[in-house]
Amino acid sequence: MAAAFGKTILFGEHAVVYGVPAIASAIGLKTEVKVTGTGKELKIRAGKESNIEALKEITLAIMDKMELKENVELEEKTELIVGAGMGSSASYCVATVRALAEYFGKKMGEKEVNNYAYEGEKISHGNPSGIDNTVAAYGGIVWFRRNLGGGKNTVERLKIRQPVEVVLGHCGKTGNTKKIVQKVKEKKEKEPERLGKLLREIEGIVFEAKKALEGFELKKTGKLMTKNQEKLRELGVSTNALEKMCDTALSRGALGAKLTGAGGGGCIIALTPGKILQENVAQGITDLGFKAIKTRIGV
Ligand code: PMV
Repeated sequence: MAAAFGKTILFGEHAVVYGVPAIASAIGLKTEVKVTGTGKELKIRAGKESNIEALKEITLAIMDKMELKENVELEEKTELIVGAGMGSSASYCVATVRALAEYFGKKMGEKEVNNYAYEGEKISHGNPSGIDNTVAAYGGIVWFRRNLGGGKNTVERLKIRQPVEVVLGHCGKTGNTKKIVQKVKEKKEKEPERLGKLLREIEGIVFEAKKALEGFELKKTGKLMTKNQEKLRELGVSTNALEKMCDTALSRGALGAKLTGAGGGGCIIALTPGKILQENVAQGITDLGFKAIKTRIGV
């Protein structure tokens, strides 16, 4: 049996598409994949939330790249909400590569696991920046910069002293990443100056956040998250539900709150070090009628 973590984007979503660095973290919720045997055709048993046909397509792409000819039977189980920007597909890809490697006795380093997992991500996202599978494969907190020239992306692990409690608030609606990324692109073409300025401001926030995280300055990190949220709102990717959850999290004492991932739905992340603060913020989000998930970053 193999497993891989989900992810949350702490800083720089959307701007990362245009070459601004982003910071993402693994979260303490995972997907497990087990190869139970071989058979005539590829068979997948999965939780009721998962789309089996999509998982099959992803798995076939990975197996093809790994040059595995035998069909397998797989079991999938995930703690992540599917389609909520929590990296469920990337964690499935990474766990599947690991499970297949284990079953067929192939020794593999994290880098190789990540490369095969990216093949699966291409099936689910078209042209992914690669940040999700990288975090799922390496764990911890990752500094990621896309190479706009098509060359190798910059991936650097950021060390923090210890994992930190966070609350993810899910608004119940799925955001369509492809559509929202396209919307930002159109805005950028229409208003190049305003959007250019916003992207530069986000870049400044991401660089400051790197320092704050490495110095384990959580208050500063939280302030920067809230500042990043202001810029995401100006980019037009936030929603009323996401704003409401951020406001509630802050009023309950969260050090910072922002949407995470593409926006337009999906989740917010609130920085809530310590179990008591985490519980308090989670309760606030639940009281609003949304789903609160308590987990940790930097795992
Ligand atoms: O919603 P998610 O978790 O798939 O995140 C999308 C992040 C974007 O920056 C908006 C797009 C990308 O490819 O990096």
